[in-house]
Amino acid sequence: MELLEIRNVTKVFHTRSFWGKAKEIRALDGVSLTLSKGESLGIVGESGCGKSTLASLIIHLAEPTSGEILLYGRDISHAKEKEVREIRKKIQIVFQDPYSSLSPRMKIGDILMEPARVMGEFSEIHRRQRAEELLEMVGLRKSAMDRYPHEFSGGQRQRISIARALMTRPEILILDEPTSALDVSVQAQVLNLLMDLREQLHLTYLFISHNLVVVRYISDRTAVMEKGKIVEIGTSDHILTHPADPYTKELIAAVPMIGKTFIPPHRIADLG
Ligand SMILES: Nc1ncnc2c1ncn2[C@@H]1O[C@H](COP(=O)(O)OP(=O)(O)OP(=O)(O)O)[C@@H](O)[C@H]1O
Ligand SMILES: [Mg+2]
Repeated sequence: MELLEIRNVTKVFHTRSFWGKAKEIRALDGVSLTLSKGESLGIVGESGCGKSTLASLIIHLAEPTSGEILLYGRDISHAKEKEVREIRKKIQIVFQDPYSSLSPRMKIGDILMEPARVMGEFSEIHRRQRAEELLEMVGLRKSAMDRYPHEFSGGQRQRISIARALMTRPEILILDEPTSALDVSVQAQVLNLLMDLREQLHLTYLFISHNLVVVRYISDRTAVMEKGKIVEIGTSDHILTHPADPYTKELIAAVPMIGKTFIPPHRIADLG
């Protein structure tokens, strides 16, 4: 049984135009994919193609208009409160912007322990222990517990967001453009950290990005999305070297290259 299976999921938003006319936005249109345990699946596509909408349905911030989302074979797309709490223990998300995702008036220790507190996970002593352990695991010091977000750089904040996401021992980590807001020199460090964590903790990743090369670096398979649909899916290497879809070819053309060689993320930093 697959860890996560998305079956023919559609999400329609109803909004109004500037003139007040009712408008339908088909953010996802019949999306199907599977995520096996331990796999890292990349999702690429340009702005507005529905990547974050897909993430929000998986962690149940919204419900699909139609279709099913199966976690270990059980449909979670219309889960109720108690079940949602269970889902959030298993599936966590790291967002793009490390500046707005950490609340400025809370100490790092409380930021890390909060989700586990709300879910009633572990005793207070255990939560503290786990928070300290995770800080070290993401390359920060335990003393960060008593400091505030503004005392940290963008890269360090993203490390803190990653540590927070790991507090409840999730199986699946959704990474929604986790390095796009960071300086190029810091991006590679955070990507390397994510690679290490995946191995150490046997995590499963859904890695969202508009950069195909970054996705290939971190993902075994890649799905290419365009206007709410998956237009191509396969091993990341194959997609990058033998793209079948014209849209994938366009995405690849937009990636920095020297001659015919793709620049791996740890070299992107050198190019500044
Ligand atoms: N809550 C909402 N209400 C109305 N429309 C929405 C809502 N959320 C997303 N959309 C629309 O759905 C489409 C997909 O948006 P989404 O945020 O999933 O794209 P994305 O691929 O994550 O883009 P980006 O790369 O810019 O983050 C867009 O047209 C967006 O305007
Ligand atoms: Mg998005």
